[in-house]
Amino acid sequence: MKHTITLVPGDGIGPEIVAATVRTIEATGVEIEWETQFGGAQALEKSGSTLPDELIESIKRNKVALKGPMTTPVGKGFTSVNVGMRKALDLFANVRPIKALPNVECRYPELDLVIMRENTESLYAGLEHVVVPGVVESLKIITEKASTRIARHSFEFARREGRKKATAMHKANIMKLSDGLFLDCFYNVAKDYPEIDADDKIIDNGCMQLVMRPSQFDVIVMENLYGDIVSDLCAGLIGGLGLAPGANIGEDAATFEAVHGSAPDIAGQGIANPTAIMLSGVMMLKHIGEPDAAKRMEQAIFEVFEEGEARTPDLGGTASTSEFATAVIRKIN
Ligand code: NAI
Repeated sequence: MKHTITLVPGDGIGPEIVAATVRTIEATGVEIEWETQFGGAQALEKSGSTLPDELIESIKRNKVALKGPMTTPVGKGFTSVNVGMRKALDLFANVRPIKALPNVECRYPELDLVIMRENTESLYAGLEHVVVPGVVESLKIITEKASTRIARHSFEFARREGRKKATAMHKANIMKLSDGLFLDCFYNVAKDYPEIDADDKIIDNGCMQLVMRPSQFDVIVMENLYGDIVSDLCAGLIGGLGLAPGANIGEDAATFEAVHGSAPDIAGQGIANPTAIMLSGVMMLKHIGEPDAAKRMEQAIFEVFEEGEARTPDLGGTASTSEFATAVIRKIN
């Protein structure tokens, strides 16, 4: 069966790592027609919008997208295209597996956990306004509907993937109403999954525990902003941002992208590590019903790491993005 998938090259290192991933996915033999669409600054120049209707319509039609990172200006300029896209498509669950790869020097080479981040609300929605000059209000909206939905998704995921434990991280000791509601929803849903241990941690302690003894965690469930920050922390535990994949899942569509951003400091040099988005590609292949190709591609990536010859500079090697992809392609059976 031929799949049609929306392809968003993104900004900065996006086009480089996306091209490497497309080559690798195609090497599995899965037939895909890519529908290339642009967002962000590139789209603004072409169509006058950072989030053109054609981009959203394409993902709605194809139900799946592989997406490079997009730059969001700090402090001023346009609002985040990533946030806009997740909202427009109601991609409520951000699934971020944190799994160490063989031979990568890192703090926790055995680590294997999954971050489940609510993707549509909390402070991260960026609902801000100036009350009077010098005073800004930023709104943290937490709803029972969204909190229950991410909790349900997390426990279903844990059950499906044979995970043993789900931990909610929150600040309900201070934000008693908002984080309190999030936590209540988590425990209400947990009742339906007696085989999965449910517990919680206040997020500051949770971060310390993650750095000291991360193996105690299995699935971690968080609201949007905490999930964003803790994802990068966890990527650091397994060797860096070049290694952490992700998926944004909704009822009707899903987009697959790395945890990291557009890395403007190394863009255009051909040295970015494509592993994170390649592993997002593996998640995408599973999602579209190609588990065999997903397994072969994942196996090939792991073999290249086990061999340890092709490595990008972030991991102390000299391979270019494209050379790394070629090494993976050679390993695909
Ligand atoms: P970043 O994740 O782009 O980079 C942080 C550091 O990690 C940089 O030193 C970068 O060189 C390195 N890095 C990231 N990915 C790498 C890779 N694949 N290989 C090797 N090194 C890598 O974070 P930063 O600099 O805070 O954000 C840059 C832009 O990306 C911002 O405009 C931000 O809004 C955007 N961003 C977009 C995301 C998305 O589209 N989903 C997610 C996170 C940030």
